[in-house]
Amino acid sequence: MGSVIAISNTKGGSGKTSTAVNLSFAMAITHRRVLLIDLDPQASATVALGFERADDSHSLAGVLISGNPLPAVITRYKRGLFDMVPSNEDLTAVPVALYNEPDASTRLKKALLAVRESYDFVFIDCPPSSGVLFDNALCASDRLIIPAQCDFFSMDALAQMMSLFEKLNFEHKAKVRLLGVLRTMYDPDRAQAQAISSELEKQFGQLLFDTVIPYTSRVSEAAASGRPLLLYDKSSTAARAYLALAGEIIAKLRH
Ligand SMILES: Nc1ncnc2c1ncn2[C@@H]1O[C@H](COP(=O)(O)OP(=O)(O)OP(=O)(O)O)[C@@H](O)[C@H]1O
Ligand SMILES: [Mg+2]
Repeated sequence: MGSVIAISNTKGGSGKTSTAVNLSFAMAITHRRVLLIDLDPQASATVALGFERADDSHSLAGVLISGNPLPAVITRYKRGLFDMVPSNEDLTAVPVALYNEPDASTRLKKALLAVRESYDFVFIDCPPSSGVLFDNALCASDRLIIPAQCDFFSMDALAQMMSLFEKLNFEHKAKVRLLGVLRTMYDPDRAQAQAISSELEKQFGQLLFDTVIPYTSRVSEAAASGRPLLLYDKSSTAARAYLALAGEIIAKLRH
């Protein structure tokens, strides 16, 4: 059975979506069967891949709220040979709609049962906050990748992330293990970047990816053009780093 991997950090702008999009594409290049789920109402991953936002009848919100079948909302990304569940703002209705539902945090997990075996990797791009969507991502996942910038505020956010997912595990809602913390937007010339990077090495050891995603304007340019980096500029440093990250994950999980 494949791995379901949440890409999550409650801190905004930490590189979750860029990682979800470019890692999905890199994994597909290595011939793994990949599904990318955009679980953020901002729909950034959807837009960064040039997809239309999901229409009402094909929205992930309908899967989570009404139990509509997940396969009906899966779309093929033809330029990269992987599958995607696009997002739209309907997802903002999920917390209210599922308020007081005893199975509110396990709806995505249940929906994924129908398709899990069709994929080697399911990546979930999470919104930058805790709450019902966050809980659904973590409860549906075996593993967690936390993208983090090497700045002072990231350390607090990481501590918060660790306690949030450990709490879900402790309550027996989730069974998710940290796959790794990923250093994103790394610029060695920025104040504190190297010091924070060493601190992360000390704190996380094997649970810090060796691969570091460098800072380059190519990442946002590619997203603005609606393409993954490897199709926009395959020689960019970050494009190569995302390929290396795919290799590191495959080695860690021996898929
Ligand atoms: N390696 C990088 N180099 C330069 N810019 C980057 C890099 N990675 C991401 N960015 C840019 O930083 C911004 C935030 O990145 P991204 O959208 O991936 O973060 P996020 O964690 O998904 O944000 P949110 O919390 O809003 O969902 C975007 O404009 C993105 O293009
Ligand atoms: Mg995002």
